[in-house]
Amino acid sequence: MKTILEITEDGSHTLYVPELDEHYHSTHGAIQESMHVFIDAGLRHCNKEHIHLLEIGFGTGLNGLLTLLEAEKLQKKVFYHTLERYPLAEAAAMQLNYPEQIATGAKTAPVVDDKKTTRMFHLLHQSPWERATAITPSFTLLKEETDFSHPEQFQPPRQYDLIYFDAFAPEKQPEMWREAIFQRLSTLCGDDAILTTYCAKGAVRRMLQSVSFTVERLPGPPGKREMLRATKMKQLS
Ligand SMILES: C[S@@+](CC[C@H](N)C(=O)[O-])C[C@H]1O[C@@H](n2cnc3c(N)ncnc32)[C@H](O)[C@@H]1O
Repeated sequence: MKTILEITEDGSHTLYVPELDEHYHSTHGAIQESMHVFIDAGLRHCNKEHIHLLEIGFGTGLNGLLTLLEAEKLQKKVFYHTLERYPLAEAAAMQLNYPEQIATGAKTAPVVDDKKTTRMFHLLHQSPWERATAITPSFTLLKEETDFSHPEQFQPPRQYDLIYFDAFAPEKQPEMWREAIFQRLSTLCGDDAILTTYCAKGAVRRMLQSVSFTVERLPGPPGKREMLRATKMKQLS
């Protein structure tokens, strides 16, 4: 997919996809949105010490980088399994200004070692696909090139504690927001697993409820009134 580099309102980059007329992140602030929806409402809310995480849409690697940095602060171990249908070319990824933006500390807590942040970001992109790779002692990355609009084909070895659902918007990619998608995700979740998404649509909330999630509407990131956090209900044995 052809993409165009753009700056969002918080100074961090995003990519615009002309073919879909869609951005990878909120134009009000990419880092702000990712911190709010996935780190604050997801990672910081998950009380497991060793988190098995599934991301739908690796894209720019922004969620991955912020998760790696936060996991180090929280002293948690993360196995980060991320799915992507259209991997970005490495040259496009290297243009993204996330390490420098994070180093200023304006949207995240200041990072102690910004050279290390840059190195980690490059490693996230340069590590091989389809092979689990330890990026740090506490963060293992598995990038898988796959089309999750056929969710029945995805057969992971174990269940997840946390899901970042970060597909393109329902109006642009309705095939990713069907009940069959959420049904599959529900079967991949352990008890009390959490799913977060920037989308707050009533139809999405009702689909999540119908596949055994309890759903909260939370205040959204800048420029967005609400977002959703879903928690998998315990299954009675
Ligand atoms: C809203 S962007 C978010 C990307 C990423 N989380 C980030 O922060 O850059 C949506 C991502 O989902 C990917 N995607 C689109 N269709 C997909 C599919 N059928 N299966 C897996 N990934 C898909 C896109 O290529 C894109 O990287």
